[in-house]
Amino acid sequence: MHEKTIDEAKKRLLGGQLVIFPTETVYGIGGNAINENAIKLIYQVKKRPFDNPLICHFANINEIEKNFTLQEKDYELANTFWPGPLTLILEKNKESKITPLLSNNQNLVGCRIPNNEIAINILSKIDFPIAAPSANIATKTSVTSIKDLDNNLKKNFYIDGGSSVLGLESTVIQTTKEGCKILRLGSLTIEEIKNKFSHYKIEIIHSKISPGNQLKHYSPNKPVRLNVNNVNKNEALLNFGKNDLISNIKNLNLSIDEDLIEASHNFYNYLNILDQSNCIGIAVVPIPNNGLGKTINDRLKRATFYDNK
Ligand code: TXA
Ligand code: MG
Repeated sequence: MHEKTIDEAKKRLLGGQLVIFPTETVYGIGGNAINENAIKLIYQVKKRPFDNPLICHFANINEIEKNFTLQEKDYELANTFWPGPLTLILEKNKESKITPLLSNNQNLVGCRIPNNEIAINILSKIDFPIAAPSANIATKTSVTSIKDLDNNLKKNFYIDGGSSVLGLESTVIQTTKEGCKILRLGSLTIEEIKNKFSHYKIEIIHSKISPGNQLKHYSPNKPVRLNVNNVNKNEALLNFGKNDLISNIKNLNLSIDEDLIEASHNFYNYLNILDQSNCIGIAVVPIPNNGLGKTINDRLKRATFYDNK
């Protein structure tokens, strides 16, 4: 990546403007986390309600320790999965200058160290965290490629880092005495956590504690029909594995080899392409409900909340 681009991003963030940048999960729309006006701007351009908190991105754990108090299990998860698709909900300390607006005045704030060269390059050149939700309008699908970016959001400075390696958002986790609570399923799977920490008690929270868990979220414009074993006339087909199903409008296969890593990588981009075809709706075949498939199914379920827009 050109140094000039990184410098321009730095300059804009310092000036309170927003920068759209790649991460390994999805693209983020970032602003200076200690600048209240920048944070206001993020909520405004995303049309996001202020009660849905933003997460902060850091270059390394030392920067996180300056702002937060970590418990033993936070360190265990952090040392194992950072940099990577883990967002830990941490308690702010008194010294932190992170604006309360970012977390709806609460002391608990989501933090992560992304595993992306461009993101880390920017983060290591500034001395404040970057608050960055996914770079999409609230309730719409996340973006894993600049060509899927909303036209209004595109008016912000953006850095094209190619298609996101993982393709699904980070897993939002809060540690407990006995293990951890998953507040949002994501690219880090429960199986991966259990593999490393078999003694952890892991709870999946289905309530609205993580406001991004609102139903109607991650939605395309067209209605989505799940677990299909037939395709209706003029429906597009989001397929997985080998079968005889076919759409008369458009067909995309998340992974012919039933590889959930490949399916996650393709997921949002394929949903967007089908959404933009002249279909009347999107039919989706069953996706196995384990590992990353659990996260894909979670997003698909929310995508079925169609509101006629
Ligand atoms: O992969 C990702 O996490 C991407 C990239 C850009 O890092 N970011 C992202 O941010 O997906 P966002 O804001 O779209 O989703 C963050 C999720 C939301 O569901 C939000 O409700 C939840 O994290 N969250 C943030 N702060 C929280 C908190 N203090 N307590 C509970 N949930 C929180
Ligand atoms: Mg989001």
